[in-house]
Amino acid sequence: MVDKTQPPGRLRRAPENFLTDEEVKEISAGRRRFLRRSFLAAGAALTVPVAARAAGEGDPAILNLPEWSTSLGQPVATRPYGQPSKYESQLLRRESPGLTRVGGASVSFCPLQGLFGIITPSGLHFERHHQGWHDIDPSRHRLMINASDPAFLKKPKVYTMDELMRLPSVSRIHFIECGANTGLEWGNVAVPTVQYTHGMLSCSEFTGVPLKTLLEDCGVDYKKARYVLAEGADGSSMTRTIPMEMVENGEVFVAYGQNGEMLRPENGYPLRLVVPGVQGVSWVKWLRRIEVGDKPWASKDEAVHYIDLLPNGLHRQYSSIQECKSVITTPSGGQTLLDKGFYNVSGLAWSGRGRIKQVDVSFDGGINWQTARLEGPVQNKALTRFNIGWVWDGKPAILQSRAMDETGYVQPGYGQLRKVRGTKSIYHNNAIQSWKVAEGGEVTNVQVL
Ligand code: MTE
Repeated sequence: MVDKTQPPGRLRRAPENFLTDEEVKEISAGRRRFLRRSFLAAGAALTVPVAARAAGEGDPAILNLPEWSTSLGQPVATRPYGQPSKYESQLLRRESPGLTRVGGASVSFCPLQGLFGIITPSGLHFERHHQGWHDIDPSRHRLMINASDPAFLKKPKVYTMDELMRLPSVSRIHFIECGANTGLEWGNVAVPTVQYTHGMLSCSEFTGVPLKTLLEDCGVDYKKARYVLAEGADGSSMTRTIPMEMVENGEVFVAYGQNGEMLRPENGYPLRLVVPGVQGVSWVKWLRRIEVGDKPWASKDEAVHYIDLLPNGLHRQYSSIQECKSVITTPSGGQTLLDKGFYNVSGLAWSGRGRIKQVDVSFDGGINWQTARLEGPVQNKALTRFNIGWVWDGKPAILQSRAMDETGYVQPGYGQLRKVRGTKSIYHNNAIQSWKVAEGGEVTNVQVL
């Protein structure tokens, strides 16, 4: 049992949360004096707990009235579109330095270590572009639905955004995870923080029209047309095959809304495909065309990319579902536990096959496990937040989470996964993540087999 009478411990956030972009770049370039200086500054703010002040000294933050209690605040609509506090300005999506050579074909990672609950603020949603993003004029954007054979579809059509937005809509919360998330870690520990190990992951409420509604409007013949091809309007010619069962069951939809507003340009404005449970690449952004057909297209993004290299040298294709996975987001790599005591250990779990059923957490590298509390409602193919109390006794510890989904599938350890998948893959790494807490409280990324 957790002793909650222990005073809560304090945690210093990962360097990215208090270093400026320039300082992070300096550190990546190996100039560590910045790291020392910034750690000292961050430490100074945190290392004198209120209780440790000399008796009778009192806390000036409670004894003196601050200026915000004695002056007039800013008027409404000073910022017609709201912004986070300036004190949160380091919580940003970030590129992993040196990951790709051009920013137009790259990734920015979501700062999972600083988020609460399950919804990703739209401005912090991870980005993955194959050829950059555009802010597309919605009045000039079209969605065409056609077929490779007239027998598959009676009336091919072109929809404007206005026409799409007048159709009956659905709003659903789903996670999106790039198939390459955690891909750098297949062989060994590669990156320090959860932002880089797991940050190609986000979760939003999307709003749009089920693709089924559009295909039926165009007179699809489900008996003959068993696949759809989705195509984006960007220069990357992004195309992905999606099996018709996913469309027929109503789950796939063309979305224009994200978290109550229109999609952000980086995430596909004005239209993207939402394919719940399936790897991010199939969520085609700037969606301009859906073709129906009777077999998979084996396009470049499914025959050459987004395939799994197996230990025997063969590739697996169309392994699109994101299997059950979880990660502790706090405490996590780069953070520091500043003193012993109670910590609320918190993380995220998700499965491309449905709902999360259980998350177990270990504090000793997988020897003993305790069941965490799931924050409901637990939703289908959405992130699920879990929490569990832990009293750190100041000794080294290894924190892990292991999720199980409603199919009974249990997230594997690195030993188990590597036996089947080897170490040379890029995609679909759903292994258990381990964070080591050292005696000094520093949290680092380690792998336990
Ligand atoms: N769609 C188009 N048209 N072009 C792209 O480059 N990237 C794909 C997918 N859809 C991409 C695309 C990949 S690989 C992923 S992981 C997701 O979009 C990322 O979506 P996000 O940028 O909204 O996070």
